[in-house]
Amino acid sequence: MPTVEDAMAEKTQDKFREMSLQERIDFITKAANLSERSVQALMNWTPVKTAEGENFLAFMHIPGGIVPQVKVNGRELFVPLVTEEPSVVAAAARGAKAAEKHGGFRVVVRSTRAIGQVQVVGVPASKTDDAIAAIKEKEKELIAIANRWTPHLVAEGGGVLSLTPKWIETRTGPQLIVDFVAECKDAMGANAVSKMAEGMASEIARLTGGQVLGRILSNLNIERVVVCEAIFDKEIMALEKEIDGKLVKIDGEAMVQRIVALSAWADVDQFRATTHNKGIMNGITGVALAVGQDTRAVEAAAHSYAAFNRPYGPLSYFEKNANGDLYGRLEVPIPVGVIGGTINTNDVARAFLAITQCKDPKELAALMAAVGLAENVSSLRMLAGEGISSGHLPLHMKRV
Ligand code: MEV
Repeated sequence: MPTVEDAMAEKTQDKFREMSLQERIDFITKAANLSERSVQALMNWTPVKTAEGENFLAFMHIPGGIVPQVKVNGRELFVPLVTEEPSVVAAAARGAKAAEKHGGFRVVVRSTRAIGQVQVVGVPASKTDDAIAAIKEKEKELIAIANRWTPHLVAEGGGVLSLTPKWIETRTGPQLIVDFVAECKDAMGANAVSKMAEGMASEIARLTGGQVLGRILSNLNIERVVVCEAIFDKEIMALEKEIDGKLVKIDGEAMVQRIVALSAWADVDQFRATTHNKGIMNGITGVALAVGQDTRAVEAAAHSYAAFNRPYGPLSYFEKNANGDLYGRLEVPIPVGVIGGTINTNDVARAFLAITQCKDPKELAALMAAVGLAENVSSLRMLAGEGISSGHLPLHMKRV
């Protein structure tokens, strides 16, 4: 076992990896000249399985709160949200309340499928004309080969459903890309899809005469698009608040009009659309983190979808309805699972997932979309009303 001095002298990745947890803490304490307070914070870990993770040093505690009573497709749910911004939980609760009066959030989740890709380069000129036909002709066999790699998923009714080969022109020459769609049932599917892509690789290479390089999930998962709609009550959206000794009063209809104008701004200005979408992701990512999802995958899917087949734009849309209330609609892919990954190793994530009462990824994605839209509408109400300095930062500042 290397001593702290050895590691300090060489500072190599390998040595850090070989250290015990106590040795890592001693090493970092010395190397970064940490205060006693920082050392105590690092040592305040909870011993769970993930403590064995690569180069583990300490857990970072982020507060997790509950948004009570979010009505999604007729069910009242409690939603856990993990975020370092306390105002995010308050905002989601307010948005959910404004939707509740008109039946809550109505959500449709497209599917629990994932998309995978296999990249083939160097297809000989003699085969380029019929490489696509060769893949299509052997589609059933390739699917059977892929599915052998994920027997548990296939036993649950999942597996590869279809293959779609396409040629693309790149700066390193033409490439054949085989896109495929796989049913992932209760899993998010990243691992299963990669296994399937790897499983098919040698047969695809044989059929095309090319060399297979990349074999991986696509994080732009249009198969998992969620559409969430709600009517936000104008009376609940009204604002009456004392700010800096002055009463700010905006009635419901005026507030609705202001929010629609903010929404229209995001439609045509990418600088605003990005921040608008960040507000939505405050909610979606907060739930994702709470229930042990891959937050980077959730974020990647959302922002990529915001620029799918169009210039980057807002993921949501608002307009005034005939009654003067605010109609909102969010459309975003939400790739999540209720088994696997962090859910297996993190007791808190499992407990938070249990709180949601979501039994499958469709229910979970629906809930996340509802919180995203609730968050979004509250952010816009705050921008249209008291502004971020009075509406959002005080809670944050109180905490820090
Ligand atoms: C801050 O975390 C999120 C907002 O900037 C979102 C928005 O501007 O719509 C308030």
